[in-house]
Amino acid sequence: MTAVLAASTAQRLGTATVVLLVLGLVVYALFHLFRAEAAPPGSEVELAPNRKPYLDDEGLEGPKLNRAQLSALLILVVVAVGLPAYWLREPGRQEGAARGFAERAAERGFILFQPNDSPVPAGNVGKFGCGGCHGATGQGGQTNYSLPDPIDPSKPPRQVKWIAPPLNDVLMRYSPEEVTSVIVYGRVNTPMPPWGVEGGGPMNDQQISDLVAYLQSIQRDPKEVQKENLEKYGTDGVKLFDQFCSRCHTQGWSYGESGEVGGGAFGPSLLDGATVRQFPLAEGQDSHAEFISKGAEYAKSYGVRGVGGDEAGGMPGFGDMLTPEQIKAIVDYERAL
Ligand code: HEC
Ligand code: HEC
Repeated sequence: MTAVLAASTAQRLGTATVVLLVLGLVVYALFHLFRAEAAPPGSEVELAPNRKPYLDDEGLEGPKLNRAQLSALLILVVVAVGLPAYWLREPGRQEGAARGFAERAAERGFILFQPNDSPVPAGNVGKFGCGGCHGATGQGGQTNYSLPDPIDPSKPPRQVKWIAPPLNDVLMRYSPEEVTSVIVYGRVNTPMPPWGVEGGGPMNDQQISDLVAYLQSIQRDPKEVQKENLEKYGTDGVKLFDQFCSRCHTQGWSYGESGEVGGGAFGPSLLDGATVRQFPLAEGQDSHAEFISKGAEYAKSYGVRGVGGDEAGGMPGFGDMLTPEQIKAIVDYERAL
């Protein structure tokens, strides 16, 4: 009984088919034996269907023909009405299937994302603990990190607390492909480890794409994010740079030991007129402001000599999270660095 309960739907259907076939065979055999006994040898000369006299011409072309035509008409009606009715539902059915597909992917991603101490059962998907650093709902968080000494790696590493960015707005600054690349390769020399097999991590492509589907499902409304950022940071270039740029452009910012602001970390140094040289134009097409708004694309050129690099994301675009006035404030601030 337990074996039957544990079987999949396909296995249960298969078992039912086999049982029906065997039963049918038994019934057929019984019936046949019985008939073979009832009919004496030689009687098939009269009993065989091809020996019985059939309808004459009148009978064939009369009610028999009418009945055949009527059933043909009925079948035609079923096909003529049924097929268009089926096609009518088709676009909706396909949309529903696509939505269902995305929702199931996001559900698996939700489990993968759970912090290790989350009460959500791991099921057959498994928990990978992203939420332990990035916050249980991707709102951002902090994590312990052993920071090696950059001059003498044999020294014992220092323990620091490293800020992990929120992910419930990550698709406003990065494309899904860029997010995929960060997850696959991680960010070297930060607590963000590589997760994809190509990066040396434990996750296959399916799990990574499930995680991206989950991140897509938890993205906040860009209008709400813009409003909140405007209320919190206004158009103050210093505050805006500190909040949105320093974690990649100021060494030590992520663990409360900021070095020279804009001196470069994961992203290059922006000091001593670097941005003015890279972007002769502050505003307009191919300008500094456009770059901050759109970010860099992997292996695509920007500015005068810039090329989007690094497999783990690169320069994000802030046009969906910040207003044009805020971006202008950052540009003005950077050009004076
Ligand atoms: C041990 C802590 C930790 C874990 C676990 C972790 N991350 Fe991260 N993650 C970080 C930190 C820290 C950063 C920022 C690194 C930096 O300072 O550039 C980051 C960056 C990211 C970014 C780039 C965001 C941005 O705006 O720069 C993405 C996307 C991301 N993580 C996704 C994930 C996913 C998905 C998982 C789970 C598979 C995960 N992380 C697990 C610590 C962690
Ligand atoms: C997640 C890390 C990250 C954040 C956050 C980030 N940047 Fe960048 N930035 C980079 C990287 C990496 C590059 C180098 C180009 C590339 O590889 O994409 C870069 C390049 C740049 C450049 C071009 C410098 C040059 O000389 O080529 C400017 C200007 C810049 N960033 C400004 C900003 C500003 C302004 C912000 C905040 C609004 C910001 N960045 C936030 C990572 C980041």
